[in-house]
Amino acid sequence: MSSRQIKMGVIQFVFLFGFLWLNIVSLCSGGITSKYVRKQASVDIPKQVFSSPPGHNAPEQVHITQGDHAGKSLIISWVTPVEKHNNFLIYWEAEGEHKHKHRVHSVTTTYQYYNYRSGYIHHATLKRLQYDTKYFYEIGIGNVKRQFSFTTPPEVGPDVPYTFGIMGDLGQTYDSNQTFHHYLSNPIGQAVLFVGDLSYADDHPFHDNEKWDTWGRFIEKSAAYQPWIWTAGNHELDFAPEIGEHVPFKPYMHRYHVPYKASESTSPLWYSIKRASAYIIVLSSYSAYGKYTPQYSWLEKEFPKVNRSETPWLIVLLHSPWYNSNGYHYMEGESMRVMFESWFVKNKVDLVLAGHVHSYERTERISNVMYNITNGLSTPVKDPSAPVYVTIGDGGNIEGIADRFTQPQPSYSAFREASFGHAILEIKNRTHAHYAWHRNHDNQAMEADSLWLYNRYWYPKEEKSTGADMV
Ligand SMILES: [Fe+2]
Repeated sequence: MSSRQIKMGVIQFVFLFGFLWLNIVSLCSGGITSKYVRKQASVDIPKQVFSSPPGHNAPEQVHITQGDHAGKSLIISWVTPVEKHNNFLIYWEAEGEHKHKHRVHSVTTTYQYYNYRSGYIHHATLKRLQYDTKYFYEIGIGNVKRQFSFTTPPEVGPDVPYTFGIMGDLGQTYDSNQTFHHYLSNPIGQAVLFVGDLSYADDHPFHDNEKWDTWGRFIEKSAAYQPWIWTAGNHELDFAPEIGEHVPFKPYMHRYHVPYKASESTSPLWYSIKRASAYIIVLSSYSAYGKYTPQYSWLEKEFPKVNRSETPWLIVLLHSPWYNSNGYHYMEGESMRVMFESWFVKNKVDLVLAGHVHSYERTERISNVMYNITNGLSTPVKDPSAPVYVTIGDGGNIEGIADRFTQPQPSYSAFREASFGHAILEIKNRTHAHYAWHRNHDNQAMEADSLWLYNRYWYPKEEKSTGADMV
């Protein structure tokens, strides 16, 4: 054996010993080698699939949302990619005597994000609309004219039926496309309650803001025709000081306007609307909510304004769930729960919808408001005044499924499943609403969890959670 061979042998031994030692250490130290890795990552649909409509400066990314507190107004938003003009739209009633065409000019904005410059983002507010009426609207002129329609909600009232779709954490993958098309193929949804995390642009280098454009084109098929009620999630923050982007929520707030002033809010990140028989409060998990903060002060004044004789159904949208038995994002909603849960129970909130965790979960009616740091009562208990909490961050975005449920399943968790899907909430009258979650099942939407919800103010009976399909 030459001295070179001996040297190589020693190097190999040291290397092998070192490798084994590292493995022994990692095995003995219980999970330290396990990094936070999402499995079954979904794949984004290529940008070119979401191409702009044909024609120079054709309006695109059309989406609508409620424009006032009671549903007589609508905000229509769109983008013209190259030039600011034409910055108006035309709308008219589809039927009836008033076929008069109205012209509304938009408020236009643009923004710069790192090396990206946005197109011209338009927001036009249509006011004094008739309730329960179909309208057509037209954006652009000549060969780039595009026509859409929407139907206003019925007048606010206690027994007005209304059906909401519910989606969250959608992104723009092939799975997102399934979720979105399952919702589209269900003809009963009249408006979407969206619980945050829209485009996932920030998962791409330099928060590739072209992904905000492609997402706007992706959802247009629904969002141009029925209002989507927006909640901001963490993927709307786009806070990236490392590339000089210091303003939180910049792309989101330029692109998605909401009627926050109508509910005397001081920020588009928290606000409320009334729609049919529902009172919907939107909160921001990523804005300050401690005592004395603007959001806290607003919510404190907001609850007493809710008149259950007018809007029996009290629904809250927020992004980070308070009750989540998944390893992903576990306890992230806890500080907000501590601040607000007692108000929710006192005011008998019917339903809290959250996203963030990329799976599905529904709770029993439970609360954990007895805990006061010294009494040790830190276990959630059955509470007929408490909301049902639904986590529906299962739109199918690029980050994949959250499949690390805690074991055993806690008693507060009624149904949970690591799948993608959407839900439908059918409000029937002041006492009853049917809720159903539809999983994406082999390219079909299959109802996998359902429940008759009883209104907490008018009919606070115990619901039977028998609709769950435990496949
Ligand atoms: Fe999130």
